[in-house]
Amino acid sequence: MHLEKNVERVYISAEEIQERVTQLGQEISEFYPADEEIVVIGVLNGSFCFMADLVRKIKQPAIIEFFGCSSYGSGTESTGNLRITKDLDRDIADKHVLVVEDIVDTGTTLARLRTFLSKRNPKSIRIVALVDKPSRRKVETPVDFVGFEIEDYFVVGYGMDFADHYRNLPYIGVLKPEAYESTEN
Ligand code: PRP
Repeated sequence: MHLEKNVERVYISAEEIQERVTQLGQEISEFYPADEEIVVIGVLNGSFCFMADLVRKIKQPAIIEFFGCSSYGSGTESTGNLRITKDLDRDIADKHVLVVEDIVDTGTTLARLRTFLSKRNPKSIRIVALVDKPSRRKVETPVDFVGFEIEDYFVVGYGMDFADHYRNLPYIGVLKPEAYESTEN
């Protein structure tokens, strides 16, 4: 396979991703009651590939939403600064909410997002992350469904970026250290 020049190796192939996404869709479909509506919220931008594939494997009626945010500030408060770049288009009060993340790293974004969404009184909040890096966690926050638990590699592809590049790779690859250690991309 032709690798993008700054990608060291394929870490999770496109086929492995699809297989695991199908399993996650089954797990999620078995978790919720059959006819309960779920508001599925993709966290922009990284979740877009995973979201698109996952929702087609969920059997419940689903409302598709996207939420844009970024965390900033280094305070120890897990409920702290969440900068919203795109808010939800509908009310989630009394709805089952499933948050779709590409990756959970320090857990900061997810912890803040959970606090933020909880204030809108959903019936439930569950999280699905394609990739989890537990060794990087700084804020403990539950992740209900995990696609792949991985070591602390700099991964890109299938939605994940470095400086907004590589999101369109069909696989998850490990970025060469020289790509992120130098200022050039
Ligand atoms: C990524 C990812 C999570 C967050 C995880 O988003 O999508 O939201 O970082 O990191 P954390 O656990 O350390 O908070 P990012 O801010 O890179 O934006 P992107 O989705 O547009 O790439």
